[in-house]
This record gives sequence, structure tokens and C-alpha cells, in this order.
Amino acid sequence: MKYPRCDQTVAWGALQGHLQAHGLDLDLRERFAQDPQRVQRFTVQAPHIHADLSRAHLDVATVRHLLDLARECGMEARRDALLAGEPVNMTEGRAALHTALRAPRGVGLHSDLVHDTLDRMLAYVDGIRATAGGSAPDDIHHVVNIGIGGSDLGPQMVVPALDPFVHPKLSFHFVSNVDGHNLAAVLRRVRPEHTLFVIASKTFATQETMANAQAARQWFLDQGGQDIARHFVATTTNVDGASAFGIRDTFGFWDWVGGRFSMWSSIGLPIALALGREHFKDLLAGAYEMDTHFAQTPLAVNLPVRLGLLDVWYRNFKGYTSRCVAPYHHGLRRLPAYLQQLVMESNGKRVDEGGQPLPYLTSDVVWGEPGTNGQHAFFQMLHQGTDIIPVEFILVRQSTHRDEDQWSPALRELMARQHQVLLSNGLAQAQALMWGKTPAEAAQEVVPTANPALSADVLAHHRSFPGNRPSLTLVLDQLTPQSLGALVALYEHRTFVSGALWGINSFDQWGVELGKAMCQSLLPRLASGDVSGLDGATAAMIERLR
Ligand code: F6P
Repeated sequence: MKYPRCDQTVAWGALQGHLQAHGLDLDLRERFAQDPQRVQRFTVQAPHIHADLSRAHLDVATVRHLLDLARECGMEARRDALLAGEPVNMTEGRAALHTALRAPRGVGLHSDLVHDTLDRMLAYVDGIRATAGGSAPDDIHHVVNIGIGGSDLGPQMVVPALDPFVHPKLSFHFVSNVDGHNLAAVLRRVRPEHTLFVIASKTFATQETMANAQAARQWFLDQGGQDIARHFVATTTNVDGASAFGIRDTFGFWDWVGGRFSMWSSIGLPIALALGREHFKDLLAGAYEMDTHFAQTPLAVNLPVRLGLLDVWYRNFKGYTSRCVAPYHHGLRRLPAYLQQLVMESNGKRVDEGGQPLPYLTSDVVWGEPGTNGQHAFFQMLHQGTDIIPVEFILVRQSTHRDEDQWSPALRELMARQHQVLLSNGLAQAQALMWGKTPAEAAQEVVPTANPALSADVLAHHRSFPGNRPSLTLVLDQLTPQSLGALVALYEHRTFVSGALWGINSFDQWGVELGKAMCQSLLPRLASGDVSGLDGATAAMIERLR
């Protein structure tokens, strides 16, 4: 497949010209005043997700040029190659077929393999859930997932996100960090006879996971735990490694599932244990709906494509360095962490397929916190700082609290009001970012806490907001397994789109290897104190830490 590099296309030149002529000083307030249809023009509907891009820093011509860029770069052919299982992960000669994990039986590639494994895993899930929280001596009350990166972040994000759907008698714990404080804090809360440890590792070789798994097994035996085979289960592509560890029940997956795309595979076992078979299937079904949208919808109304193009526009033309993800739903509090791996491990690359350094920027930095908490921390900078940081608001129209049916009418009313407060906060932040406040407007206001010695003019400048700060808003009707599945798949495909436009391999992660190798060689030196041949900084630090 040979397509021009993005910066060598006609569309790239057109975008540069457009930026100089119209895009540099695009003022959202003026655009809204000039175009009463702006919201409709910049709204894209995808399964379970309504996206309002009207407050993004772009206009109709920008979108037209970006779509030209997608066509010139062979976006449709690249997408089709991904979905057809071609080895798009070219440095490892592998496909990236996470979409196969959520296709219904009989549809798509590897269907029998995927569904046989899924059925086996769900039968296991049924068995555990049937007696979970029961009073028999070894009924499972706690599930401890031991894994890191893609073997942790998906389950750790999804389980709290779907809390109202979680088995009421099961508690979930996540141990990822090699720092023993993580494991120790969990072990304090559980008993061996009532705990299921899920050892999650694609390779079954990751240092952190192996260290935590060994320590957990030691604790289990020390505490009089009887049956390792019942209390330890593995999710991995390395079945031999798991059985060497002494694990009987192993749920596999395949090398064509990347770690950060693996929550749909057996790595999702904690999710399935939490939600049960039907809701886990709903999660897959929601993702499949987004896959179908991505595969079949024309580029202009294809939400992952439109968002991936926006990422390229912001990064390569507007020069924005990061984006803030602000989910206005407490359940989505781990979504920014999940997206950090998805986006930055995928697109934090600097060479093209031929290994040549790229002359343009790739991945932005993704960060964020749930609203409204972020408002009381870093939103100050978003409103008045010197950087322009696009914000992604995720709003959920209706709340779905656990135990709502047991609440008194008075409590229900109070909680319904809290949801309105939450939503108005999200709306207000997007509005404030865009409209800002002029010094003249600020000067009209009486401020009781202001320093009386300060001139009104100086104070007004401190209290003014430049406005015209970009955002986009994704709206979900409710946070359900289906809508969450669609949301995560949306971000996956969007990440693929920007990576494909940049001409990088979004599916490898060589950048994590160097530090891993250096750690292996430093570990014995920390014990022995041998600093010979090390650089001065590392040697001095070893001496200080010993
Ligand atoms: O950090 C590198 C990485 O390989 C991630 O891509 C992966 O998700 C994580 O480590 C965990 O790997 P494994 O599932 O093999 O333990």
C-alpha cells in the first residue's frame, strides 16, 4: 500500500494555506454569530454517542481539506487493511484485530477461536458468580486483578464505570505497581479462602506482574490458603508460562491483540466477573456497533475519522501540545489514565514505516480528571493560562445510580438535582472557555475579596478571560455497557486514524524496552553497591538509595 506521506499531499499544502488565511485567528464567538447553523454543521452522530464539534477550532473549509487529506493518505484502504487482519503492526509482523473480539459469532475473522474462548470464559464466570459472596468456606468475595498497562487499565477503568451493573457481593481490587505498597494495601482487606487472584499478562513475563503474582501466591500459602488452582487464574497468550506458575485455569488470547486493545479479550475477565455474561456481551456489542460505524460510514460523517483528523489539525497546524479529557461522570474517573496508554503508547512514535525520522509532530499528551473535580484543580490554567489546551467534555444525560430503587423519594430528588448540577457545570465550563470575559466586563463586577489598594483596571485584567478556548462535547444517553463499549472503541479507532495519517505504526511499543533492560542490569547493583562503569548521576543515586 503506497500513499504519500501526509506532509507531501496536496491537502497538507491546502491546510497550511487555509491556516494562514483563515485559521490562525479563528474566533469561535464570531463564527457562531455568523453561522446560526454552526452546531448542526459540526454535529456528528455515532452509535450511542452524539458529538458536538462546534466549539472546536475549525471551520467548514478546514474539515473539507482534512477530508481531502484522509483520502490522499488512503484512509479508507488503511482502515480496511486493519479490519481485514493485514499485518498493520509491521515491526512485529502482526495484525491488530481487536475488532474480531467483539464481532458476533460467525462474523469476521477468527470467529470460532474468539467465541469458543469467550464461551469458556463466560462459563467460568457463571460458576464464580453463582456462589459469589456466599457463606460457604471458599465462596469468592474478592477478585484481585494482578496486571499492568493493558492488562490492568481496561478492567480498572470499566469496573467502576459500570458500578450499578457490578455483582453486589463481589469486590474488585487492582494491583499493578511493582511497589509492594499496592499489593500490601489490598492483601490487608482480603482473606485467602474468599479471594480469586487473576494474573493478567499477555506475555506472562512482565516484571511487575510476575513479582506481584509471586508475592500474592506466597501470601496465600502463608495464610493457610489451600487450593491454588481454585484461587489463581491466568489470562495470557503464554499458557505454558501460566501452567509453570501452577495455574490450572487459563484463558488465552492471541498475538494479534495488542495489550492496550485487550480489554475485550480474556483480559476482560474481571469485567465479566463484575458484570456477568449478558452485560459483558453488551459491552462487546456496543464496541461492535462503533466498529460497524467506522467500517461503513462515509468519512465525512464517520466520528472516529473526524476526531482523528481533528487531532492532526490541532497538533500539526494549530500546534496544540495536549488535550484534556474531562468526563462528567464519576464512574469514568480512570478513563484519562486508560486513554493515556491507548493514545500515547500507540502514537508516541517518531519514525515512519521506513524507519526515517518524521519532520512533523505526532501524539499529543492526554490527561484529565473527572468533572467537577478538575474544575477545582487545573481548570484555572485552561481558562487563563498561556497554553491553549482543547478540552473534551463527556456528558451523560441520565444518571444510573446503584440502589436507586431503594431510595426515599426525598433522596431521589436530591440526587436527581445533583445530576443537574453536574451537567450544568460541564455546560458552564465549555461556555466559559469559549466566551471568556473582557476586562471591561470584569470591571463592572463588585468583588468583595479584592485588595482595595489595587486599581480597578489592574484587577479587571487579572479577572478577565481571553475566551475562544476550544472544546468538544461527547454526549451519552446513559453510561451502560453498550455505550461504554462504543465510547472506548471510538477512542481506539480515532487513535488509529491519526496514527495512519502520520504514517506511523500505532501497534508496537519499542519505547518501553530500553528502561526495562536497564532496570534488569541495575537491580543487582542496587543490592551489591557495584557502581563501576555507570554514569555519575546513576552511580551517585545508587549510593544515596542504598
Ligand atoms: O508497557 C509495555 C507493555 O508491553 C504494554 O504494552 C502492556 O500492556 C504492558 O506492558 C503489560 O504487558 P503484559 O500484558 O505482557 O504483562
